[in-house]
Amino acid sequence: MKALILAGGKGTRLRPLTYAMAKQLVPVANKPILHYAMDSLYQAGIRDFGIIISPETGEAIKLSLHQWLKDDARLTFIPQDEPAGLAHAVRIAKPYLEDSDFIMYLGDNLINADLGGHIAAFQSAGYDASILLKQVPNPSSFGVAELDSLGQVIRLVEKPKVPKSDLALVGVYLFKSSIFNAIDRIQPSWRGELEITDAIQRLIDDNAVVHSRIHPGWWLDTGKKDDLLAANHVVLNQYLNYEIKGDVDEASRLEGRIHVEAGAVVIGSHITGPVIIGKDCRIENATIGPFTSVGDGCVLKDCQIENSVILEECHIEAVPGCIEESLLGRGCRIIKSPDTQESHKFLLADHSEIQVV
Ligand code: TTP
Repeated sequence: MKALILAGGKGTRLRPLTYAMAKQLVPVANKPILHYAMDSLYQAGIRDFGIIISPETGEAIKLSLHQWLKDDARLTFIPQDEPAGLAHAVRIAKPYLEDSDFIMYLGDNLINADLGGHIAAFQSAGYDASILLKQVPNPSSFGVAELDSLGQVIRLVEKPKVPKSDLALVGVYLFKSSIFNAIDRIQPSWRGELEITDAIQRLIDDNAVVHSRIHPGWWLDTGKKDDLLAANHVVLNQYLNYEIKGDVDEASRLEGRIHVEAGAVVIGSHITGPVIIGKDCRIENATIGPFTSVGDGCVLKDCQIENSVILEECHIEAVPGCIEESLLGRGCRIIKSPDTQESHKFLLADHSEIQVV
């Protein structure tokens, strides 16, 4: 069994962050989203990984996965010139996948699934394909499955205007090489992409057995800012342990599960977990948390931050009020203006968003 991880795409919904970085490398609890996918596939016994990369972010993905790499894992990078759809990504991976069964995993998804059990069930039953489904309140935003009374998949529709069920396709799929023939017989959709849902529908129309499993755990598609903050919330809540490697002074108050990395200094601050503070940060006279991840090398002084993801090397100082539900890219600065007049000064990249009162 090989894995095909999709780490290309455009990431338009996560702009402006994705002008500067791949969305699969945005950290959740200070670890790139893509590494969660790699870890759970590795734990399920996968050792052979094909990774779809785009021309814009491919080098950064390679670098990050070389940092993740385990001794017995093999990585093959597969460039995709255009984000022409999930089925297109599978098609161009054919020379890598050959005749092997494979698990396809969307590199911007976080799932607490037992992939090992899912793979074993697929292999022993000999299904042609198997998909994971999850009940969602807003099925129109996803690929949606319609099941018959026995739970067999009878129809798949990509982002239907009038959904026939509330079962969305979670970003994990199991295929045999029969999927290539199905992909060869589909046309691009109205949005110009070769849709994997259309290819699976082909399999169903050919009377192939497409099995589905309802995923009982959580599934987080991190495509948008609020989804990413929700993912940060869930992962911090579930996995963070109390560990203080840096220096916390006596005047600081720590409550709940807090992780402070080596080299970080916390002075006169109040931190309410779950919170992770990266390496070499300086947190001074600040109120942080809950549900906040602070990347390496940040300076947070005389400020209050909660429910937020702050990437590396940010500097936030003397900001009145509370910064909440915020996502800051690398090296952002939010500081009090030295002017006495009441005015705001911004230097923002395209599609930045600021909410002021
Ligand atoms: P999407 O989130 O569907 O697409 P996108 O990354 O282009 O994002 P947006 O809609 O915000 O512009 O993609 C799901 C995953 O699959 C994501 O990790 C990117 C990846 N992908 C590819 O690798 N190749 C592709 O052709 C497409 C469409 C997506």
